[in-house]
Amino acid sequence: MDIRHYLEQKREEIDRFLDSVIPSAQTDPKTLHESMRYSVFAGGKRIRPILAIAAAEAVGNPPNAVLRIAASLELIHTYSLIHDDLPAMDNDDYRRGKPTNHKVYGEAMAILAGDALLTLAFALCSRPDPDDGLEPAQQVQLIHELALGAGNFGMVGGQVLDIQAENRDIDLAMLRSIHKHKTGMLIRAAVRMGAIAAAATSAQLDDLTAYADDVGLAFQIADDVLNVTGTREELGKNPNTDAQRGKKTYPAFYGVEGALALANECVDRATKRLASFGPSAEPLREIARYITARKN
Ligand code: IPE
Ligand code: IPE
Ligand code: MG
Ligand code: MG
Repeated sequence: MDIRHYLEQKREEIDRFLDSVIPSAQTDPKTLHESMRYSVFAGGKRIRPILAIAAAEAVGNPPNAVLRIAASLELIHTYSLIHDDLPAMDNDDYRRGKPTNHKVYGEAMAILAGDALLTLAFALCSRPDPDDGLEPAQQVQLIHELALGAGNFGMVGGQVLDIQAENRDIDLAMLRSIHKHKTGMLIRAAVRMGAIAAAATSAQLDDLTAYADDVGLAFQIADDVLNVTGTREELGKNPNTDAQRGKKTYPAFYGVEGALALANECVDRATKRLASFGPSAEPLREIARYITARKN
């Protein structure tokens, strides 16, 4: 299959949907909506929503609801990036090829745009819609997965560990835990939510969760490697920031080649986890390979 074409097609679908659910910049409070739209539509690979859709396709018969479930993940992810870039956190000036949200709208608006995206994600995921193919119990489970992936035991918890590890001599177990939480848990939620929306069996959900955990680790290792090897033009964000900020990453432990080899091992394991799925899981297999081959 042509994974580039698949990714492009899904990205367009997700972007059209996001455009329809985020109020226009002419809607009050105008600056808030402008600022939310600025970061959501600055670019972005849409990997988490695409993983949710691909997981639903792997299980088969994705319901209509899968698009709003997928979009809710991208809203949370974009909020996490806006807050991650704030001066109190990573203090970054560029994201998705443009000045960061707080550079354009100021810190207060950037914090509030992040808060509003987080909240909108839950509004979207919990939207009552009798025609979209979800049972009420399934919908509650989806909201629960989203909260777990995003919150204190998920992405936010990982961000805390990440900040506390700055300029400290952490060991590999701690690094793994940082990656697992700050990046892995939302990716896990994405895959699980797609699977749950498509009514996966518990065996399918277990296999897909194992896939997601390996893909999540590979994804963050690749992010660490790109921070060392990428250019600002390729990445749309400044490179070399991890070393500048005293962050110990996979390349710091293993070197760039060693880190990439580890990421590729994760990808191999991830694809093996899908052994019980047929051709419907081909997009998930290809996405896993794309994660270490990507240039941004
Ligand atoms: C970057 O995520 C931050 C991490 C959690 C590694 P992405 O690489 O998915 O960023 P976008 O969404 O494409 O900008
Ligand atoms: C971001 O991790 C993880 C989030 C939850 C936002 P990083 O801080 O390592 O990612 P970049 O390099 O800013 O995209
Ligand atoms: Mg960070
Ligand atoms: Mg950062």
